[in-house]
Amino acid sequence: MVKIRLTRLLEHCAKQQFTSKSVIQRRPFTSTQFPELSQFGDNISSHHDLHKYSITEPEKFWSILARSRLDWSQDFDVGMSCDMSAGQFSWFQGGKLNVSVNCVDRWAALDPERIALVWEKDEPGDTVKVTYAQLKTMVAKIANLLKQAGVEKGDVVGLYLPVSPIAVATMLATARIGAVHSVIFAGFSSDALATRLNDAKAKVVVTADEAVRGGKRIPLKKTVDTALENVDSVKNVFVMRRTGTDVNMVANRDTWLDDGLSGCTDDCAAVPVDSEDPLFLLYTSGSTGKPKGVSHSSAGYLLYAMVTMKHAFDYNQGELFGCVADIGWITGHSYVVYGPLGNGGTSLLFESTPTYPDPGRYWETVERLKINHFYGAPTALRLLIRYGDDYVTKYDRSSLRKLGSVGEPINIEAWQWFHDVIGEKRCDVVDTWWQTETGGIAISPRPSAPGAPLAPGKPQRPMFGMDPVLLDDKGKIVEGNKVDGALCLATPWPGIARTLFGDHDRFVNTYFSVYPGYYFTGDGAHRDENGDYQITGRMDDVINVTGHRLGTAEVEEVLTEHPLVAEAAVVGFPHPVKGEGVYAYVILKEMSEQVSEEKLREELRKIVKTKISGFAIPEHILFTPGLPKTRSGKIMRRILRKIAADKSDELGDISTLAEPDVVQIIINKHLHK
Ligand code: PRX
Repeated sequence: MVKIRLTRLLEHCAKQQFTSKSVIQRRPFTSTQFPELSQFGDNISSHHDLHKYSITEPEKFWSILARSRLDWSQDFDVGMSCDMSAGQFSWFQGGKLNVSVNCVDRWAALDPERIALVWEKDEPGDTVKVTYAQLKTMVAKIANLLKQAGVEKGDVVGLYLPVSPIAVATMLATARIGAVHSVIFAGFSSDALATRLNDAKAKVVVTADEAVRGGKRIPLKKTVDTALENVDSVKNVFVMRRTGTDVNMVANRDTWLDDGLSGCTDDCAAVPVDSEDPLFLLYTSGSTGKPKGVSHSSAGYLLYAMVTMKHAFDYNQGELFGCVADIGWITGHSYVVYGPLGNGGTSLLFESTPTYPDPGRYWETVERLKINHFYGAPTALRLLIRYGDDYVTKYDRSSLRKLGSVGEPINIEAWQWFHDVIGEKRCDVVDTWWQTETGGIAISPRPSAPGAPLAPGKPQRPMFGMDPVLLDDKGKIVEGNKVDGALCLATPWPGIARTLFGDHDRFVNTYFSVYPGYYFTGDGAHRDENGDYQITGRMDDVINVTGHRLGTAEVEEVLTEHPLVAEAAVVGFPHPVKGEGVYAYVILKEMSEQVSEEKLREELRKIVKTKISGFAIPEHILFTPGLPKTRSGKIMRRILRKIAADKSDELGDISTLAEPDVVQIIINKHLHK
């Protein structure tokens, strides 16, 4: 699947003579964008020069930026001390700072009336603006409430909230008192929520009565109640009123957030934390069933989110940065909250969906709020393309300057539509490749810099501090251009995750042991004839459904919980809108009673929805008497992927399988599904 996508893409690129008007508009380089580096003046005149400096002199590069762009309570002594093989990273050692001060207080002091957040609620036109002064008050009050609830430095606070100013203020409030937040996407089920709260030993949960998305109400508090039946660590739940509906409140545990806040002052001293103290955990999927609590640092993470946000998008204060991601994912953390606010910017909080009340929602919002930077996922673009251009062109998009894409490969058709129709061939499209673990954008074209022309449909070139290399299956570096390999990063950067919560061995084994001396991303990549990078897809058992990362093992575990399921194997298959869809092959136990296949499918879909989330529901469930296994019992997923992708003519040699005949049975069933 990945190969086909790439081949088409390369053919298209070769055919296309790409011209973008915006490529021509340039601004002076070091003087306006990196004033702190002007001492290197003439030596740095292009993105390439600056990038080279950032990877040959990483300590110097990042220390200069850390001192000029962050406010410190105590300066640091050592810029960087890292050991890739051991997965040990320390940036700005000896320094102390507070992230909420950097994201709020310093801007509130400078310009209290500047808008920090523009909350576009689900109902179109229902917009709430929050100034930096107001945000400072909200943060301080919530921080005081958390302190009253016994939250101390290092404690974990779970957030299960809609995209909202309260959610942002709660994240910053935990930072203010040196606590750690763990935001759990409010689309996850009660089981998924409980697993994450238990793993993090969260003390407090902040949630809402209900969320509202696309006109539908989602019972968040009810889900929290169910989750907490299996969680002992949570002692307090604070409930934001979003819809005002009546919800069950448990005595001595649950408090309405407004009631709690009414007793709190708006004065809360910020706790200076060490640069390396954790700022947050964010659970993400890996190739085993257990989600990973990716842990990020305070200073290094914040600096990396800020620098990448400013320079990938050429952001200037006063502009409205519109990242439409949910705060439950890393994109929401880095480019809705920490990047924009760390830079003193104005950030959009988009609570709705791309198609509510109709497929013009994004562009109507762009016109009404005059959004300057729009950052979203290819899956949404692919969905919107189907509704035609009229939903776009009837709105004024002249405020837009940069368009960003994230989360999955952007196919050429979507890229072109983004660039030509949405951006009127005027706005650069910035394809940003990165991961929960990288903390911020790692590969992206940065078209605002000299010497960085755009090529459609690929993230192209490394950001500062990123040294991508391609490795072959023997672990040797693949040199030159027009080559493929496992995408690894060779030098440390401040935003790299520091550990997996409670499991540093898993951190080292997953990212630093596969190719010793390198960070292994889990992705494959192609380097084209110009040296530009193109992501070819995951190399592990992780798939990407509507831009959401999903471990196939998680779905398999849940399917086998059904009493009639003996075994399950889950793979991804190419999906025209979702990017990838979930395809489950299921072996049933001997059945004592007859149950229809359709009823079973329905039950299995329901299990996945209630145990994980709606986006993980298999599109196809195929019942099979067996699975293609090697003689040692390992499932050959490669074969299952080919069949799911309608490529059973490309299976290659299957004679080494324990039971090769099962393959034809599966193919027949797939063809008649
Ligand atoms: O496979 C890559 C894909 O998403 C994975 C990271 O997922 P997650 O940690 O959830 O973070 C998503 C948002 C940063 C990567 O390993 N991915 C992300 N961005 C791109 C991408 N694949 C291709 N092109 C991208 N721009």
